[in-house]
Amino acid sequence: MKLRKAMQAISSILRKHNVGNFLLESTIIAAYTLKKDDLFVLSNPDLEINQTFFYNMLKYARRRVYGEPLAYITHKKEFMGLEFYVNKNVLIPRPDTENLAEEAIYYIRNYSLKNILDLGTGSGAIAISIEHFTHATVIASDISYKALKVANINKKLLKSNIYLVNGNLLSAFKSNFDIIVSNPPYILPSEFNSLSKEVKNEPKIALLCDQNYFLIQNIINQSKNIAKFLLMEIAPNMSFFLEQISELVCIKQDYSGFDRIAIFRF
Ligand SMILES: C[S@@+](CC[C@H](N)C(=O)[O-])C[C@H]1O[C@@H](n2cnc3c(N)ncnc32)[C@H](O)[C@@H]1O
Repeated sequence: MKLRKAMQAISSILRKHNVGNFLLESTIIAAYTLKKDDLFVLSNPDLEINQTFFYNMLKYARRRVYGEPLAYITHKKEFMGLEFYVNKNVLIPRPDTENLAEEAIYYIRNYSLKNILDLGTGSGAIAISIEHFTHATVIASDISYKALKVANINKKLLKSNIYLVNGNLLSAFKSNFDIIVSNPPYILPSEFNSLSKEVKNEPKIALLCDQNYFLIQNIINQSKNIAKFLLMEIAPNMSFFLEQISELVCIKQDYSGFDRIAIFRF
């Protein structure tokens, strides 16, 4: 069977089941199956592929149809120009969160900050990017051992020098940090049903906070004791209560104009 035919079959399955970027995704699935890059796939439509490859492509397409995110199938996600390994134990790093990493890098350079904590590191994407671009000392913490295992894989893959710590919020830390960066879980339990089936496949511990944002308030209160700055990704509907907090410097918007990063100075 020619690669072109196989990809047509995959993209029509994906399209039939309303997978948004079905052409791009069928290319990525073919490339992943053949262990080649997208360019190879697009420039070799007449390549003869055997049944096993085609069945594997069908298997991955079926997983997509059932709502598994593509990044969990290919185990790859780009963030800040670096390629991260991901699996179902971590949130897939979002392009929006690059705003947070970029803002943190700006603060680290501008205020010559040295000791950084990435709280709720997940795949390690924020921590490893910050360390990569600033060479500051970065500690990455998470309550989830499974997430820390993924962060450790990325630490090795990307030859990073970050330190990994397991702990609940800031309870593991006595020492001071110049800056705490965090993309905490901030989706309300009442919002869960409205999430896409892809997002529902991500770990609940990475997505959901409590209905009263106590987790977010705890991050702010605990940071006061041990950090000079806190940069935190937020949901736009959190601005109303964050604006009551006297240490809030500002709330920055993402590229779509939504409130996305809260900056605190203690
Ligand atoms: C929204 S994800 C962010 C992951 C990653 N930093 C990113 O931006 O892609 C939130 C992370 O916080 C972690 N987390 C949730 N509750 C926590 C807690 N009480 N203490 C520490 N980490 C927590 C989750 O395990 C998850 O990895």
